[in-house]
Amino acid sequence: MDNANSYVHRLLTCIVQKGDVVVDATVGNGHDAVFLAQLVGNSGIVYGFDVQESAIAMTKGLLGDVHADTRIICDGHENMHMHLAQEHHGNVAAVTFNLGYLPGGNKSITTQPSTTLSAMQRAMSLVRIGGVVTVVCYRHSDGELELQAIRDLLTCLPQASWTCMETNFVNQRGNPPVVFIVNKRTLIKDMQ
Ligand SMILES: C[S@@+](CC[C@H](N)C(=O)[O-])C[C@H]1O[C@@H](n2cnc3c(N)ncnc32)[C@H](O)[C@@H]1O
Repeated sequence: MDNANSYVHRLLTCIVQKGDVVVDATVGNGHDAVFLAQLVGNSGIVYGFDVQESAIAMTKGLLGDVHADTRIICDGHENMHMHLAQEHHGNVAAVTFNLGYLPGGNKSITTQPSTTLSAMQRAMSLVRIGGVVTVVCYRHSDGELELQAIRDLLTCLPQASWTCMETNFVNQRGNPPVVFIVNKRTLIKDMQ
């Protein structure tokens, strides 16, 4: 658990079961998608989204040896609800967001606060009770705005229905990422 991603992976290991449906909202180079595919196994389903064809190609390549039903889609995560089969709405075990830009790619193509918030609200309505939405948020200049927007969204959620946590790496040098974990406790009709 030495960084934000390994922390999230450890948490997902406790929540995601074989046969589950999960979503990687930002597939990037495909590392999180492969991890999720291994967790859900042959009987599970991984949906993945990215706005860049290069990320989609990279992820499909990495998933080539993994035996799971993977559905990797070139579209913004704010549209994820349009791509998930109806029977998976409200039945998703986990949605992961790893925000920012594609490592090694074009830094100007990055997640944006408005679409990230919209996608998080979609994700929160798609997860089942007990399911989680995880967000790794980076602190580059635009990232700070995104981080604050996410914090504002989560701070206002009713405690009876959601458990929302923020993890900071307090002894890491530089500007370490922040992790948000959102756990659904009950159904909220008005978010669907
Ligand atoms: C930090 S990378 C993701 C890393 C990835 N999870 C991995 O394991 O390699 C962030 C990705 O978000 C993508 N992205 C930016 N805006 C997006 C959007 N609206 N919907 C989906 N993906 C988006 C970028 O293209 C980039 O590939």
